[in-house]
Amino acid sequence: MACLMIQGPARMEGSIPVQGSKNSTLPLLAATLLCKGETVLENCPALSDVTACCEILRSLGCRCVADEGKIAVNAEDVVTSEIPDELMRELRSSIVFLGPVLGRTGRAELTFPGGCEIGARPIDLHIAALKKLGAVIEESGGRLCCSAPQGLTGADIVLPFPSVGATENIMLAAVCAKGITTIKNAAREPEIVDLADFLQECGAKIGGAGESTLCIEGGRPLHGAVHRVIPDRIWAATFLSAAAATGGEICLTGAQPAHLVPVLPVLEEAGCRIRCTYDTITLKAPAVLRAVSPVRTMPYPGFPTDAQAPLMAMTCLARGTSLFVENIFECRYKHAPELLRMGANIRTEGKVAVVEGVRRLFGTRVCARDLRGGAALAVAGAAAYGQTAIEHAELIERGYESLEKSLSAVGIPAWME
Ligand code: EPZ
Repeated sequence: MACLMIQGPARMEGSIPVQGSKNSTLPLLAATLLCKGETVLENCPALSDVTACCEILRSLGCRCVADEGKIAVNAEDVVTSEIPDELMRELRSSIVFLGPVLGRTGRAELTFPGGCEIGARPIDLHIAALKKLGAVIEESGGRLCCSAPQGLTGADIVLPFPSVGATENIMLAAVCAKGITTIKNAAREPEIVDLADFLQECGAKIGGAGESTLCIEGGRPLHGAVHRVIPDRIWAATFLSAAAATGGEICLTGAQPAHLVPVLPVLEEAGCRIRCTYDTITLKAPAVLRAVSPVRTMPYPGFPTDAQAPLMAMTCLARGTSLFVENIFECRYKHAPELLRMGANIRTEGKVAVVEGVRRLFGTRVCARDLRGGAALAVAGAAAYGQTAIEHAELIERGYESLEKSLSAVGIPAWME
C-alpha cells in the first residue's frame, strides 16, 4: 500500500506545467483501435489507468509503446475481440473499448468495468445506444457478449443523461457504422471535443463536438495521426485549490483556461486573484479565504464533479459556511470523514455537504477512498499543521502522475513511503 506523506503547513508557490488529461488519454487510446497505421499520442500522463489501457490494447493484438509522455499504437494486427477480465476491472474507462472493438471486429466480449467506488457506475446508456446502432448484446453473469451480425448502422440516439463515457462509446462505434449517427443530449466535456478532434485528424467527419447534438458520418477509413492530448482540467483545479488553501501563489503553464470556466469564478469568490493568458492560469490566494456560494456539480459546462472534493478541501479553511450539492455521483463524499479527522467541520446528508470553515487543519493519518477524494486530502495536508500520511495513495496515482514530486516542485514537502 502506497502512502503519500505531506509536511504542512506550507505555502504553494512557483510555476508548474499542467499534466496531460487522463480522461482524454483513455478514450483516445481506445480510438487508436480504429486507425490503420501508426498513431502517436503526445502529452500523455504516466498513470496506472493509462498503463491499464495500453495493456488492453496489447491484449487485443496491438503494438503499443509508451515512452516519455508519448504513446505509439499500431492496431494493424488486432487478433481478438475479448478483453481479459482482470484488465476490464482495473478501471472504469475499459467500457469505452466496447464501441471500437465491436466496430472494428464485429464482436466484443468483456466484463463490467471497474473504477472508483463513487457510485453504481451503470452502463445501461452505453448498451441501449449500441443496440440502436445494430449491436446484439447479451449479458450473462457480469459478462457482455456483443456482436454486430449485419455490421453497425447509423441511428438517431437521444441520451437520457449526457453521459461522458456513453457519448465516447457511441462516437467510437458510429465512425464504424454505415450512414449518419446523431447523438442528442451528448456530453459537452472538453474530452469529448478532444476525441472528436483526434477522429477528424484520422479522417472521420464529425460535427457539433462540444455541443448537445453530435453528428457522425460513419464508414470512412481512418488513418493514423499524431495528436497532442489536452491539459488535465481537474489536475489544474486541484493545484489551484491547493494554492488557495495554503495562501500561495501559483502559475500553471500549458493550461487551457477555457476548460476551467465553471471553476475559476468559485476560486475568485473565495478571494483569490486569478489572471489568465492563452495558456497560463495564475492564482494568488488571499490571506484568509471566504466561504463560497453553493457549488452544484453538473455536466459540462457546469461545475465538474471531479473538482468537488479538492475544492471542498479548500473551503474547510474558508471563513464562513460553504455548501456543496453533488448531482452526478451518489457516493462522492467519502473524503469528508477523512477531512473531519484533520479538524474540518463538514456535515453531509445525501447529495448535500455543509462545510463550516475552521482556522486550522491538523496533519494526521488518513485514507484515500477514491481518486479525487484522495487528492482532496493532499490539498488539506498541504495546509494542515503537522505531517499528513495518506494511505492507499495508489488510488491518487490513478489520476496524478508523481503527485509527491509535483507538490515538492511548488513548495509543498511531500514524499511517498
Ligand atoms: C467520466 O466518467 C469521467 N471518467 C469521470 O471522472 C467523471 O466524473 C464523469 O465522466 C463525469 O464527468 C473518465 O472519463 C474516465 P458519466 P463516466 O457516464 O463516463 C450515470 C475521475 O475522477 N450513468 O458521465 O463514467 C452515472 O452513474 C473520474 O477522473 C448511467 O446512469 O461518467 C453517473 O451518475 C471519476 N448509466 C452519471 O451518469 C450509464 O450508462 C455520469 O456518468 C452511464 C452513466
